[in-house]
Amino acid sequence: MILEEYRIKGGVSLSGDIEIGGAKNAVVGILPATIITRGVCVIDNVPMIQDVISMLRILESIGAKVNFRNSHCVEIDARGVRCCTVDYDQSRRLRASYYLIGAMLGRFGTANVCMPGGCDFGGARPIDLHIRGFQTLGASFSFAGDLITATSPCGLRGKTFYFDKVSVGATMNVMLAAVTAAGTTRLENCAKEPHIVDLANFLNLCGANIRGAGTDTITIRGVSELHGADYTVMPDQIEAGTYMVAAAATRGKVTINNVTPEHLESITAKLRECGVIVEESGDSVTVDARGSLVGCNVDTQPHPGFPTDMQPQMTAFLATCRGNSFITDSVWASRFKYTDSLNKMGAKIRVVSNTAFVEGVPGLTGAHIKATDLRAGAAMVIAGLAAEGVTTVEDIEHIDRGYEDIVGKLTALGANITRVQTTDPSSSQVAAIA
Ligand code: EPZ
Repeated sequence: MILEEYRIKGGVSLSGDIEIGGAKNAVVGILPATIITRGVCVIDNVPMIQDVISMLRILESIGAKVNFRNSHCVEIDARGVRCCTVDYDQSRRLRASYYLIGAMLGRFGTANVCMPGGCDFGGARPIDLHIRGFQTLGASFSFAGDLITATSPCGLRGKTFYFDKVSVGATMNVMLAAVTAAGTTRLENCAKEPHIVDLANFLNLCGANIRGAGTDTITIRGVSELHGADYTVMPDQIEAGTYMVAAAATRGKVTINNVTPEHLESITAKLRECGVIVEESGDSVTVDARGSLVGCNVDTQPHPGFPTDMQPQMTAFLATCRGNSFITDSVWASRFKYTDSLNKMGAKIRVVSNTAFVEGVPGLTGAHIKATDLRAGAAMVIAGLAAEGVTTVEDIEHIDRGYEDIVGKLTALGANITRVQTTDPSSSQVAAIA
């Protein structure tokens, strides 16, 4: 079996400019939303990542016509969608397959989708809030093994629903179902992530009536149908943050373009606390980490707090800063599996419950490590870039799910990173393919 891994020769300070693509966690909601429309949608600034490819395959499998206008612009004609079933293998490929439940309920009043896949953080990833939200709007559910069947034979009706816990996925999913429900839906204790606003903006452009996205309370006045629209996906906050932290970890200076600086404020604030200079200018941020850096404490929270999706990358960086840092993950309590790999590279990290205690070390050393999930994979790449010597990162398919051309982008910043194929995980004497 052919395996792929990254080989990184670390110790180079990143330098130069980089362009950020469209936001993964926005586009994986917007693409399924196109099936609610009775028209053609043209979605631009689509990142070419595995989760997008998986979602487009699902849309094609249920009857949508997908046509690329260029490498980042996709036309989706969902007028021919008839099938309301997504099979097990396709559902398992990505977390966001759960958005098909909201979108299909909204368009057809029925949905058959298997339990979604996505990153394994070592704990449960429940979807009870999604289901309770749909039930409040009038949907019925049945479960057979992994298959979830949702129906609303009498149509969905707007109601008030309070999310017991702030959930990005549940907020977006119930919003998808509610846009064509009869009457008014009021969602309370909503997540406020920028991608929720992006999905609402897209739906409103298609004729939906959604107010309050980005606040605690979202009000949706149901409309009878949506039409197609052209939309440009917002920049990826987490891809941008990942390169900001990579610049900091390698003590480099990098300008990150095509970003929304307000979306990066919590990351910027923490980097500044460590002594990194971060300057914002229009749609760019410049990170200059060429000074002496100290650790800081981080507690992940829903937006506008520090994002959990930046927690592993930040921990890898803090492992290289002077002094102690405490990193608490208040969203995914067990998202720390990757710290074993950092310790293998010489980091000093101890995890107790949902907090990592990091004692900064003068430097990391290269090692053979694994990407245990998407953002943990990004953290492994950052650690490899910062370390002296050679690091190989296995299981990079996790990274492919959310980062477009990470090798090309880092290489343009001076990094020494290649994607290599190997048939034997214990020997990496292989052909470079990128
Ligand atoms: C989204 O996952 C993102 N995924 C995740 O990004 C991200 O980590 C997460 O939001 C938090 O920001 C996508 O957008 C596809 P949640 P989601 O529902 O929606 C609990 C990445 O790396 N909860 O906001 O699945 C849950 O256990 C990925 O890009 C319930 O209790 O996350 C967690 O503690 C990984 N019941 C908290 O809420 C539910 O029904 C937040 O989860 C749903 C969630």
